[in-house]
Amino acid sequence: MDPYLLGLRLGGRRVLVAGGGAVASRRVPALLDAGADILLVSPEVTASLQDLAEAGRIRWEARGYRTGDCAGAWLACACTDDPAVNAAVAAAAEEQRTWYVRADDAGASAAWTPASGRAGDVRVGVLSVDSERGDPRHSAAIRDAVVAGLRSGRLPGGPGGTGGGEPLPRGVRGDGSPREEARGGLGGIVPPGAGTVAIIGGGPGDPGLITVRGRQLLAEADVVLTDRLAPRSLLDELRDDVEIIDVGKIPYGRAMAQEHINATLVSHARAGRFVARLKGGDPFVFGRGAEEVLACLRAGVPVTVVPGVTSAVAVPASAWVPVTHRGVAQEFHVVSVHVPPGDERSTVNWELLGGSSGTLVLLMAVERIGAVADELLRYGRSPDTPVSVIADGTLPTQRTINSTLERVESLVTEEGVRPPAIVVVGDVVSVAAEIAELMRDVTA
Ligand SMILES: C[S@@+](CC[C@H](N)C(=O)[O-])C[C@H]1O[C@@H](n2cnc3c(N)ncnc32)[C@H](O)[C@@H]1O
Repeated sequence: MDPYLLGLRLGGRRVLVAGGGAVASRRVPALLDAGADILLVSPEVTASLQDLAEAGRIRWEARGYRTGDCAGAWLACACTDDPAVNAAVAAAAEEQRTWYVRADDAGASAAWTPASGRAGDVRVGVLSVDSERGDPRHSAAIRDAVVAGLRSGRLPGGPGGTGGGEPLPRGVRGDGSPREEARGGLGGIVPPGAGTVAIIGGGPGDPGLITVRGRQLLAEADVVLTDRLAPRSLLDELRDDVEIIDVGKIPYGRAMAQEHINATLVSHARAGRFVARLKGGDPFVFGRGAEEVLACLRAGVPVTVVPGVTSAVAVPASAWVPVTHRGVAQEFHVVSVHVPPGDERSTVNWELLGGSSGTLVLLMAVERIGAVADELLRYGRSPDTPVSVIADGTLPTQRTINSTLERVESLVTEEGVRPPAIVVVGDVVSVAAEIAELMRDVTA
């Protein structure tokens, strides 16, 4: 017979989990997300379950399953590696009419766990009708395809969407349950929707390096304001009716351009649209993201921020340069060199950086690399200090030039290196060389 699909609302309701191994480790976080009151019985548990128990998020009794453990439970999950114990849990649950799932025997279960996923406010669950013999990978593959379709906007009713009906009142999910308004931390403060703005960090350029949440919100936007260094290939996936504004091409000076961007964000939001501001890297790392947040709030427009993978760390990593490495660098400094050392607008303490042994990650430095190298040498860095210049990091056109502090300016000129590029100064650059050599051996 076909299973009857339900969404269990487990908030505050007791769930018994018998077993503390790999299966329980997979099930418990999802049960906790649903607000379940979990009693876990198992003589031993995995480290992640132990962490949850120590944090007081689940109650763990370090013993085997006992008759009576199912009492008061709405759902029982029999996840031990002993079929006899799982059968005993199932029998007790059946006896008292509690739903139960046996991890080892779908045919002997009263309920089945679907392959599930989330895209914004939509929860997707997929069950193979013949779950006894069906391949769970098949359900998981369908789940992945549906979730990816919703997230990218290829399927209607994606993240936060209501399938074209009335917009939801703020604070209410599509299923009528209250939405968690303040999830704590960044990104969840204002639910996205009509009349709001999301400032989204797009990562360093590779479209695979935007966050899941960033991609979800992008798929939901009515208007997208995009930067030159944002992962533009993602724009191809948007619905045809989404308005895309390329703010990298605004014909004003820097300050005017920013004012114009702020005004555009506000005016589209006030017109009732959901506005996504897609930026390169992280919006708050030399990205003027906070200026845009302030502009929205000053205009009374609700705004949220999605952190991004910053190029300051990801671009070195894409060239195998770790910004820290045990015994090599205990600190790293991220510096914007949009104005050179000595410029009256510069607030960077080059003397301190020259005297430190930490890694320097320099952004917007290519055109001013000579002045930077001179300053670092003047304040004590060795002329042999390794330097890596990585242009177009994470993109198909990525190139890396390795040099030393003494030679880097002439090499950058000779090689015609163009922005965007990250300059890494410090001994961590040598770690990349070691990795590259071993990599050659492994892949030979
Ligand atoms: C205005 S800053 C923006 C930084 C961005 N908010 C972030 O967190 O990555 C622009 C600079 O970031 C660096 N950058 C950004 N993307 C890069 C990439 N794909 N490859 C190399 N450098 C990059 C370059 O130094 C560029 O000049």
